[in-house]
Amino acid sequence: MISKELLRAREYETIEGALVGEKDRPAFHFSPRIGWLNDPNGFSFYEGKYHLFYQYHPYDSHWGPMHWGHAVSTDLINWEYLPVALAPDTDCDGAGCFSGSAVTLPDGRQLLMYTGCDAKDLDPEGKWAQTQCLAVSNGDEYVKYEGNPVITRKDLPAGGDPYEFRDPYIWQAEDGSYRAVVANANKDGNKATQISMFKSNDAFHWSFDKVLFEDYRRIGIMWECPNFFALGGRQLLIASPMDMELEDAEGSIRFPKGNNVCYMVGDYDEANETFTPHQAASHEGASRSAFATYHPVDCGLDFYAPQVMKAPDGRTLMIGWMQDPSTANIHKIEDFRIFGQMSFPRELDLRGNRLVQWPAREMEECRKGRIISASMDIVSETKSIEGLSGRVLDMEIDISPRSSSAAGICSLDEFGIRFARDYDHYVELTYRPDSSVLTVDRSRSGQSDEITKRRSIRVRDRSGIISLRILIDRWSAEVFINGGEQVMSLTYYTPLEAQGITFSAEGSAIVDLTAYELIFDK
Ligand code: FRU
Repeated sequence: MISKELLRAREYETIEGALVGEKDRPAFHFSPRIGWLNDPNGFSFYEGKYHLFYQYHPYDSHWGPMHWGHAVSTDLINWEYLPVALAPDTDCDGAGCFSGSAVTLPDGRQLLMYTGCDAKDLDPEGKWAQTQCLAVSNGDEYVKYEGNPVITRKDLPAGGDPYEFRDPYIWQAEDGSYRAVVANANKDGNKATQISMFKSNDAFHWSFDKVLFEDYRRIGIMWECPNFFALGGRQLLIASPMDMELEDAEGSIRFPKGNNVCYMVGDYDEANETFTPHQAASHEGASRSAFATYHPVDCGLDFYAPQVMKAPDGRTLMIGWMQDPSTANIHKIEDFRIFGQMSFPRELDLRGNRLVQWPAREMEECRKGRIISASMDIVSETKSIEGLSGRVLDMEIDISPRSSSAAGICSLDEFGIRFARDYDHYVELTYRPDSSVLTVDRSRSGQSDEITKRRSIRVRDRSGIISLRILIDRWSAEVFINGGEQVMSLTYYTPLEAQGITFSAEGSAIVDLTAYELIFDK
């Protein structure tokens, strides 16, 4: 039976979603059919297609009672919207169907595990009680399990906060049984947050297993949206700490105040279910205990709550909500019929103990438009390149300082790229080889003053030479640094007519560039 809430949402998205034209959407970053989008959910490959569900409020371009939107794709580029899959329509999820994940059952059905927010059970601060719930595909619909909720407050370890208990990430273990890790605040003693693991033989009946990870250092209020998976012979934990405090100067270049995504690389002893994160190399702060084990996933301004899946061809893929959650609701409602976009899916790999991210290779198939290549010296000037402009591009650029006659003196103080540029606007990337600092700056992109404008990182490769791949879309860019060792993503709302791209140097730079105009067969 389809509930009236689900029916209403489907009617609404069919009618209103049809009014959003292709040109009103990002060209290749996934956006909601209508209304608001946040986290990716249930990112999976099922019955020959990639499935992407998403936190969805169809009725408004601001966050509201959460539904699960749904889309499928065969190439990670073109997504077909399917009817909204879940609506808040039962006792345990009446205030919202929060984030979760998917697994294929042995009988071929797809199981969604999500967090239900109970509208009738609130704590003194007004937070809803959260439980873990299931929905199973029957071919046409995702039917909520009659035994919901399957994990509740009675399954929590001591101190676990039932009002901050969400985002199950499910997988099937080697022996065929199931595990799920769930984010949870803990008020016991000086603990701040924990990631608890639950187990089940059939994916329907669950019990508490153990606390997989706990944080005593108060790195953010809570580590939302955990992912726990094997990669390159190691085990990774990726999670999104909310509201991190500003760390000291060295720290702030790695994790700014606010919401962040971090990863830990470690070893997983499956028999004993213990995860041991590796310590960082000393030059990266091993002496600083708070930074010893975890690293930023994306160092830009907008990336949160990513979800990781295994593709049938063996790739490990990640997609994230390309948005800083703390400023997501700062836009005027009349500005957008849709709000929120995902990152382009990324292939994950390990280089040593470091996560490497690269745009899914399907993007290269879309380099079907103009190709512009240039090799040039830029010497204390600003240059544009004949024919190079646009807002839907894949650009590769290598920059190195011209060797200086005076040994040891860097001939390049700063290199800059401005794009989405017109007379008044631009987004800027600057690189200073002497300090290896790369900065993204959107203070001239025409956004609200309340939004964070810039972020700087220290590029890991300190050779002074940098290689960038920049995916430019209508309202966002993803910058992959030195083969994906670091990534910076950001959104901007510069007018679409701002198509200019310029390069500048203070000092002398050698630049090699190839830019591909992207064309999508819709
Ligand atoms: C992360 C998050 C999740 C929650 C969802 C609600 O952005 O806060 O923890 O499940 O969004 O929309």
